[in-house]
Amino acid sequence: MWRGAAAVLAANRTGASTVPSRSLYPHQWSWDSAFIAIGLRRLDPARARREIETLFAAQWADGRVPHIVFNPAVPLDAYFPSPDFWRSSHAPGAPAAPETSGIVQPPVHALAVWLVHRAAPREPGSLAFLARMYPKLVAWHRYLSEARDLGGAGLAALVHPWESGMDNSPCWDAPLARVVPAPRDSYRRADLDHGSAEDRPTDLDYGRYVRLAAAYRDSGYADRAERPDGARFAVEDPGFNALLIASEYALAAIAAELGEDPGPRTRRARELTGVLVERLWEPGAGLFLSRDLEGKAAKPPEYGAAGLLPLLLPWLPEGIAEALRASLRGPRFGLGTRNLLVPSHDLTSPAQDPRRYWRGPAWFNVNWLLLRGLRQHGDPVGAAALRDAFLRTAGATAFAEYVDPATGRGLGAREFGWTAALCLDLLAEEGVGE
Ligand code: SER
Repeated sequence: MWRGAAAVLAANRTGASTVPSRSLYPHQWSWDSAFIAIGLRRLDPARARREIETLFAAQWADGRVPHIVFNPAVPLDAYFPSPDFWRSSHAPGAPAAPETSGIVQPPVHALAVWLVHRAAPREPGSLAFLARMYPKLVAWHRYLSEARDLGGAGLAALVHPWESGMDNSPCWDAPLARVVPAPRDSYRRADLDHGSAEDRPTDLDYGRYVRLAAAYRDSGYADRAERPDGARFAVEDPGFNALLIASEYALAAIAAELGEDPGPRTRRARELTGVLVERLWEPGAGLFLSRDLEGKAAKPPEYGAAGLLPLLLPWLPEGIAEALRASLRGPRFGLGTRNLLVPSHDLTSPAQDPRRYWRGPAWFNVNWLLLRGLRQHGDPVGAAALRDAFLRTAGATAFAEYVDPATGRGLGAREFGWTAALCLDLLAEEGVGE
């Protein structure tokens, strides 16, 4: 399995970075690269450092880290929306090259930087890597905490469903219902050339994604600009913000390693945890919920796996970690009863679909994060069972992009970058391949 996973990362390597999938995603993706680096640190720490530095070489002047960095050698029609859609090099503050998208993805990068360093702290280059990355990560977090604090309480808001990383989650159905889809003949989906249509988002959702991205682009990627009716989306997502807070803790650790005072960053992480709980915790459900800043909350609400991700955080008010663990095993997520792996969406929701992208299938990065959360909150036995299911399922599906959570059947792309990388990470814990 070690050799198989390493072979995927070798095959997906493109110059200084790694593609999530040769067929479906032929460029560099932001949160994919962070997870890929977390696996690469076990194989080749220098390559893991380069993976992250390549992504941050495309950081914008306002601190944002784009969700895609385009490879100029890939033909324009291989992926949509392509660089001629985003037109980043004409946008204020974006680098002249390479071309990028203008939206972001979950900020798991400081955590990845810290873990990459921890894998080889004495390697020549590792401390210098930390020192180079620190100010860039600080600027990235500042962008999220200032420009994206659209709700005014301190949490980062998303302006496009793709920014959650969980593109077509049913949590976005209500806020997306207000969006007028771009006409079907105004663009061409490239994803359906490589993926089965039943596993991918619907055309209706896709039209809405295109409309939102075009309106954001046309505003010059200005976060507070007024956008037309039918082209607005602003939500606070618990998964995105949990990763921001986990990364704040990682920034504190990086600061300490560089001889700086970690205190302010640790305090900020704790403060933000308080805000997350105050704004998004739903005690009745035992989960965190997203908040729609543009309209009324959906009734009934949709519960996604993003609402479990705060389990990652080391400090949570009393009772919350226990409630999250109970939710993982309860009827909504069924871990250890109905499911081998944690599904991306509530099993009891009518919107649940065990095949379709983020509406039900289990994803390996989410399961890796929850596994860390179980360890963090005193459930080593649950974590060990999840690790076992993770490795067996990834191995049996040729490192699938996502799987049916009950049967483990592979879905989406195969030889998927973060699936292989996170397998390496888990295998290395027991010394295999090292
Ligand atoms: N995940 C998205 C896609 O399917 C957007 O990055 O292309």
